[in-house]
Amino acid sequence: MCGIVGFVGNEQAAPILLDGLARLEYRGYDSAGIAVVSQNRELQVKKAKGRLQVLSDIIQGGKSVEGTLGIGHTRWATHGEPNDVNAHPHLSGDGKIAVVHNGIIENYVELRDFLVSQGYEFKSETDTEVVTQLLAYYYAECGDIFETVFKVIRRVEGAYALGIICADCPDRFIAARKDAPLLIGHGEGCNFIASDVTAIIKHTRDISYMDDGEVAVITADGVQVYNSMEQPIEKEHSYIDWDVSAAEKGGYAHFMLKEIMEQPEAIRKTAFSRIRDNRIFFEDLKIDEAYIKNIDKIFIIACGSSYHVGVVGKYNLERMLRKPVEVCLASEFRYSNPLVDEKSLVIVISQSGETLDTMAALREAKSLGAHILSIVNVVGSSIARESDDVLYTWAGPEIAVATTKAYSTQLVLLNMLGLYFGDILGTVSAKEYSEIIDELLRLPAKMEQMLENTDDIKYYASAYFNHSSVFFIGRNLDYAMGLEGSLKLKEISYIHSEAYASGELKHGTISLIEDGTLVIALGTYAPLFDKAMSNVVEVQARGADVLALTTDSHAAEMRKTVENVMTVPQSHTIFQPSLGVVPLQLFAYYVALMRGCDIDKPRNLAKSVTVE
Ligand code: AGP
Ligand code: GLU
Repeated sequence: MCGIVGFVGNEQAAPILLDGLARLEYRGYDSAGIAVVSQNRELQVKKAKGRLQVLSDIIQGGKSVEGTLGIGHTRWATHGEPNDVNAHPHLSGDGKIAVVHNGIIENYVELRDFLVSQGYEFKSETDTEVVTQLLAYYYAECGDIFETVFKVIRRVEGAYALGIICADCPDRFIAARKDAPLLIGHGEGCNFIASDVTAIIKHTRDISYMDDGEVAVITADGVQVYNSMEQPIEKEHSYIDWDVSAAEKGGYAHFMLKEIMEQPEAIRKTAFSRIRDNRIFFEDLKIDEAYIKNIDKIFIIACGSSYHVGVVGKYNLERMLRKPVEVCLASEFRYSNPLVDEKSLVIVISQSGETLDTMAALREAKSLGAHILSIVNVVGSSIARESDDVLYTWAGPEIAVATTKAYSTQLVLLNMLGLYFGDILGTVSAKEYSEIIDELLRLPAKMEQMLENTDDIKYYASAYFNHSSVFFIGRNLDYAMGLEGSLKLKEISYIHSEAYASGELKHGTISLIEDGTLVIALGTYAPLFDKAMSNVVEVQARGADVLALTTDSHAAEMRKTVENVMTVPQSHTIFQPSLGVVPLQLFAYYVALMRGCDIDKPRNLAKSVTVE
């Protein structure tokens, strides 16, 4: 998703903006631009389609753009194709106002028609340009850029994080946000805005998160934030304590590989910080035992890999709680007249905490009376701040578009929540509670043991990277895990694959299995291992080339039928998917590597999808 950076201080702005945008590249974009105003009120806009380097080359790394105040943008197009004209910043007709925007202006057609009727001309196809021209319209009326911004944000509908420069006020820029992330960076003699902290952490760790409806006026000497009533307010400051290297590759070829390798430590940070004397503590949880005993249904709502966490979670939580758990795609939930009420617990899962589909579903569930408990990785993100309860995954910044450590920490935290509830409800015995905790404490070490040697997975990837269609088959938790393995392969290697409940294969899809079809057979869920073996034989009989995944304890049995077998350590069934997903992540990674794909920034994808 798009990235925004803003700076005002005593240094030249352009190089700082380019550096900040470079640190946001991982979010995915198709064009980039900056706007800088000089003390003599000269406002320059430079922008270009393609990678940030294209823009940097045009402005000699920023040297050819003079001014100590500026805004920058990396665009992920929603309205108007990626090209130089549609790139941000957008400039008003009189050249006085420049705007960068993350989000979608939902009533842009109506606004554009109005502005055209007022004699305004549009250069781009974007929704964003209506903001620029509407600012020009009201600024021509009132001559006060601060008042103008409020008039505009009261008129536009939709999601926006905005950076606004007016050439008449070269000492300040203005920021506004609703439903899209934007934070303020407080520096020494300089101040910033950014979509996320990675853009500015090298300059300051002292930040504050803007909330919906707020407007900030930012100068080199200070920041003043106003609420939607135009009243000045004080914002809480947060101190970012992770080091810059945490958001850098650390010697790995790709962020994705680094983050796969970080999973054991991420799980330790996320889980062990909530376990004392073999008991789970969720100090930050507001819901109490009475509430938990009164829950009659649990909904898990998310998108993509976070949704896949919910599919695994459904099996585990229903087993532990003996209560119905419904897993919903956020984009479907909103339009399905969901049967949610005040006795529903809605668990929202999101790495970025900014996924608009998920945010919208959260609001829908909240309006129906549900208690919202979110599992989020980005502290202070929009979903976190709109939830009734938040459990943070301490995975650290996840840069690769394809999630790995966030998925794993979300899954562990969701399993812990189930165990915590099960203990309160009495549906998990003390003995099983203790066994599961013991296994959880061993999980990171088992994962590290697997990660010490990935040669077999590299070998299998080299054998299969040229396939054009792959099936992941499994039952129960293996099927749920296969959904994530399939998405990982698709999103970074661009090979079409699908995950199938292996018992369902014979009801149609098995017609697609032919000589040489690659089937990744997942057999780590011990209670159904024999069934899994039957399905392996079924596809082999039709010519499938099977790559199996099973536990150490079942490896010999699997090898009686399958030549290529990946293995994982045995664990409690609840945690088996947490171990099994790692070889699937690595398989996808090495296949994509061999196919020469852009692993950290796959085509068409964004790290956080802040549009519907
Ligand atoms: C996962 O690898 C994908 N990048 C994508 O499916 C992602 O999980 C999905 O967009 C949800 O993102 P979130 O967890 O930040 O809400
Ligand atoms: N909707 C705007 C556009 O398409 C902004 C997209 C973004 O968030 O980058 O230009």
